[in-house]
Amino acid sequence: MDFNSDNVHGVDPAILDAIGDANVRTARAYGHDDWTLASERRLREVFGCDLAAYLVVTGTAANSLALAACCPPYGAVVCHREAHIMTDECGAPELFSGGAKLMGVEGPGCKLTPAAVTAMLGRLGRGEHEQRPSVVSISQATELGTVYTPAEVAALAALARQHRMRVHMDGARFANAVARQGCTAAELTWKAGVDVLSFGATKNGALGVEAVVFFDAALARDFAYLRKRTGQLVSKGRFLGAQMLAYLEHDRWLQNARHANQMADRLAGAIAALPGVRLPLPVEANAVFAIVPRSLHEHLQQQGARYLVWPGEGPGTDTVGDGEVFIRLLTSFRTSAEDVDALAAAAAR
Ligand SMILES: Cc1ncc(COP(=O)(O)O)c(C=O)c1O
Repeated sequence: MDFNSDNVHGVDPAILDAIGDANVRTARAYGHDDWTLASERRLREVFGCDLAAYLVVTGTAANSLALAACCPPYGAVVCHREAHIMTDECGAPELFSGGAKLMGVEGPGCKLTPAAVTAMLGRLGRGEHEQRPSVVSISQATELGTVYTPAEVAALAALARQHRMRVHMDGARFANAVARQGCTAAELTWKAGVDVLSFGATKNGALGVEAVVFFDAALARDFAYLRKRTGQLVSKGRFLGAQMLAYLEHDRWLQNARHANQMADRLAGAIAALPGVRLPLPVEANAVFAIVPRSLHEHLQQQGARYLVWPGEGPGTDTVGDGEVFIRLLTSFRTSAEDVDALAAAAAR
């Protein structure tokens, strides 16, 4: 009954095997190996376009480096007030970019809206006395488990273009967003105007690899230097390449995400039926957010259930009352129907 995070479940065995297979012979170092090159080719097929991809080890590095590549030190990144880059990366985007400023805006379900971005840009109108608006960054899926449709991404990207800003997508859970919407990876990214994507794999079955994917080659020009400078150029890079390749092969990235999403649906159905429980947000990826009576929360803790009590002021779409707790449960590629049913049974008790 561990729904604390999608990181709790270890590594997809097929990806672990791929790491073992890459361990049997010598290979070129620093990302020039066959696995890394093959993973780049496969990324081009998945996204249906030419692109430049660079593997790194963490999502924080992917986001911070992607932002550093498209935001000058005197620039501003407009993002949601609760975006991971804003709240959970210890200032790495500011550090890696040499001083760019993150400007957080409100939006329901942790999503940016064109109106909210426009309002923020209206407040940044004093020229060199403020940071220059440079990037709009969105999370797909968001930190509250919601997703942007291709049309919503396109609307934000069109606004960004009008202001000569770039668009970054934090895709730590990009696979869940694609699997849920049944669209293509292309429709959710470059076709909608995204310039650079942090393409996550770790949360969805890899051991530790993410790709920074540039759809505009001009932005990637000096990226190799940025990556090296921040310690993200891995000497035995074949083990990153092997993970990414196995993740993409046989559409494993989508299969794993589809499974996690289905388990989230099952979980949502089970707990929404309990008295006193409300789901204030749609379940659109692998996250279930619920407002539950404190007594139920304490009972579940005693039963050994693991999940997060979500920090902050609540979902923004519903009020967390006295005697209630706002919780987040995440499912993963390895969450089983039995795990979900065990939690539902413990709650029903
Ligand atoms: C939305 C989002 N982006 C990025 C990350 C990357 O995190 P890490 O640096 O821990 O790999 C996370 C991890 O929780 C996340 O939830």
